[in-house]
Amino acid sequence: MYPGSFDPPTNGHLDVIGRASAVFERVTVAVVVNPQKRSPYFSLDEREAMLHRCTNDYGNVRVDHFRGLLADYVKRITADVIVKGLRVVSDFESEMAFAHMNRSLSGVDTIFLMADANYSFVSSSLIKEVYLQGGDIAKYVPVVVLEQMHQKRSVNGRA
Ligand code: PNS
Repeated sequence: MYPGSFDPPTNGHLDVIGRASAVFERVTVAVVVNPQKRSPYFSLDEREAMLHRCTNDYGNVRVDHFRGLLADYVKRITADVIVKGLRVVSDFESEMAFAHMNRSLSGVDTIFLMADANYSFVSSSLIKEVYLQGGDIAKYVPVVVLEQMHQKRSVNGRA
């Protein structure tokens, strides 16, 4: 299973989902209900809907959500592995601690996949910042997400 905030999903996330879909028989992409440290820009329903639309073409990918501990969720759905994306070496420092903690709590290992190098600098937070300041993010997110960003901004106005 591939967990994340997906606020919003980026081409980097989609790249990891595509790689996981090719390696594993079945992939569950799971949106955390309340991302830590911040209130999400997109609601849970919006994040799940965007992921559904972006992963429609993969026959072996389903979208779900979870609240609370990832370790409890993977035990509940009896996932074999947790998949995480690595962009740069600095990601690994925190991810290593998460992987050890999740394995200690659940017995489930974490496997890391590297997204395409073209997305090594792409993160959901940077996408939101650039977009809300008027920058062009079309290269970094799926069309579905870009449309949802436009819709959100027309409702909310610029941050
Ligand atoms: O997309 P993100 O924000 O990098 O994803 C972070 C996520 C959802 C993987 C992480 O915040 C998480 O696992 N949250 C669930 C709470 C939890 O289990 N915390 C302890 C992690 S060892």
